[in-house]
Amino acid sequence: VLAAMAAERALAMATCTAPVNIAVIKYWGKRDTDLILPINSSLSVTLHQDQLRTTTTAAASRDFTEDRLWLNGAEADVGHPRVQACLREVRRLARKRRGGAEDAAALGLLSYKVHVASENNFPTAAGLASSAAGYACLVSALARLYGVEDELSEVARRGSGSACRSMWGGFVQWQRGERPDGTDSLALQVAPETHWPELRVLVLVVSGEKKPVASTAGMQTSVETSPLLKHRAEVVVPERLAQMMRHIRERDFEGFGQLAMRDSNQFHATCLDTFPPIFYLNDLSRHIIALAHRYNAHHGHTKVAYTFDAGPNAVIFALADTVDEFVEVVRRSFPPATNGDQFVRGLPVGSAMLPQELVAAVVTEPVPGAVQYILHTKPGPGPQLVDDPSQHLLGADGLPRRRA
Ligand code: DP6
Repeated sequence: VLAAMAAERALAMATCTAPVNIAVIKYWGKRDTDLILPINSSLSVTLHQDQLRTTTTAAASRDFTEDRLWLNGAEADVGHPRVQACLREVRRLARKRRGGAEDAAALGLLSYKVHVASENNFPTAAGLASSAAGYACLVSALARLYGVEDELSEVARRGSGSACRSMWGGFVQWQRGERPDGTDSLALQVAPETHWPELRVLVLVVSGEKKPVASTAGMQTSVETSPLLKHRAEVVVPERLAQMMRHIRERDFEGFGQLAMRDSNQFHATCLDTFPPIFYLNDLSRHIIALAHRYNAHHGHTKVAYTFDAGPNAVIFALADTVDEFVEVVRRSFPPATNGDQFVRGLPVGSAMLPQELVAAVVTEPVPGAVQYILHTKPGPGPQLVDDPSQHLLGADGLPRRRA
């Protein structure tokens, strides 16, 4: 028994999952690049982990000789400054918690090296904000390992700004904060995912994406050169944030959708206002934007709303009763190149017969093969602990398990 206890003490492990989030009031620009403090507050919807999630296992053992990190099965640089900032901050919080026996055990663990393995259940190449889910998951797993519970969004923020919003489910605000040390720049839940059960999300993954300008570098150039971004942060966002909170509280899709589209467009306008300019939208993104507006115009109100981050994939918000019809509109507008059965993934989508007037008004010039697939999802919860030890990504030897 003693030997077993000793062996147990020698290796501690925790596994968590964390979600992707999509901003409807965008974060773009830092006032402090080291602490990752934004120039404006932002607001996002956390997407469901049944469709998109990162899983991370963190282990500590006195037998480990160095910190190590594996991403999607390949060893990665654990010395990356943002990974190191998260490690350092979780450990600092663990030391701050003094008292009970549990804490004492954690203090023992704190002197051990860690091994971390992380994987996404979606292709990284799909450009689906994997860094937000990745850092949220890293911080969640480390926090579990060391028994830390509070202030975690501030730690995730040090990994990637948008990652702090993935520490909560549902509708989440990242308040910019005022203090220079960043202690008030944190994420807060505006409403849980159960608040708006009819809300759905369609991710239109576009084909032939080439690597865009990384957001970290792009937003710094914007801060330095775009007068529009300065106006946006000082004047536009504070007003919009209050409006958006109200639309969410009232489950007002018209207001929510209109504002989400306008804010996405203004973010991309600040990219064009950056010098030299940055382009994240491409011809296909513009095609999807025009399609959404034709569709809404045909129905006489806002049925779908698009938003785009630092890449050309479109994220579409709609209410559940619109999904079947709009997916058919997308299928007709971007006829799948091959194996059309994989065209729609995620939550089930029913078939829809499109009225002739709708097709005539909305499906103008089809572009075959332009959309690779559609992922149907909805708002979901924040990071989750994985209880089942068979789900750990690291084996008893502390090395990545063979992937299924
Ligand atoms: C366009 O969070 O990736 O997705 O803080 O430098 O890691 P860093 O940037 P990141 O930027 C995300 C920008 C965005 C808008 C948003 O998610 O709010």
